[in-house]
Amino acid sequence: MDTQARRLAALVVVALGSLPACRGTRSEDPPVHLQQNMDFQERGDPQEFNGFFADGRVMRKPPEGTVAVGLLKDDDHLYRGRNLDGTLADALPPSIKLDDKLLTRGETRYNIYCAPCHGQVGRGDGPVTRRGGGMQPPPANLHLARLRPEPLGYFYNVISNGKGKMRSYKAQIPVEDRWAISAWVRTLQVSHDAKPGDVPAAAPAPGGNAGAPKGATP
Ligand code: HEC
Repeated sequence: MDTQARRLAALVVVALGSLPACRGTRSEDPPVHLQQNMDFQERGDPQEFNGFFADGRVMRKPPEGTVAVGLLKDDDHLYRGRNLDGTLADALPPSIKLDDKLLTRGETRYNIYCAPCHGQVGRGDGPVTRRGGGMQPPPANLHLARLRPEPLGYFYNVISNGKGKMRSYKAQIPVEDRWAISAWVRTLQVSHDAKPGDVPAAAPAPGGNAGAPKGATP
């Protein structure tokens, strides 16, 4: 064996001998990452500056005339509250089911987003109208004879696009919730205009537990 081969053999022996020493020892250093692939890359965080782009914004706008996959929103009924002929739709979109869950959702969302102005039962008398000089123009009474016959899509549109002095709630309220709120507005309107004959015969007699808050024990 020449000197070089002997040195190499010694090195191998030392290297092998030192391997067991690694077992069980802890280190604060990050693990050795031999194969980098593309695991570590430069990343842009929201609202960050990046000199790479002329306008310095890391958040890029989609190129003009393009739509991201899944964001075409071509369902006019669901997204715009309109029938194919452009008239306002007077029903929930087929993808939204009318059930207790929807109405409960509509009620809670209405109480958060609409009741401060329109009042909890929609008479246009929410807390903001009772402060200082109130609100001019005042929030609409949702039981007005003019508003009651409006199709469901009308309320969806007012929430989405605003109306007169009322601003749009498109940015705050997702599409499905806007429908849930519209359904709740309709529920308020119908219940406000109810006659004794509208109550099903099987309903508990007045003075019973009818109208007790949900979850209340009799
Ligand atoms: C910050 C107060 C405010 C909030 C919150 C608000 N509105 Fe309004 N809303 C108004 C005012 C004010 C008007 C009257 C606008 C006008 O006549 O210029 C109005 C009008 C309306 C009308 C009548 C439109 C018409 O044809 O005259 C409807 C329906 C309505 N709002 C529904 C809603 C619903 C549903 C929500 C909750 C998503 C909501 N509003 C939240 C202030 C508010």
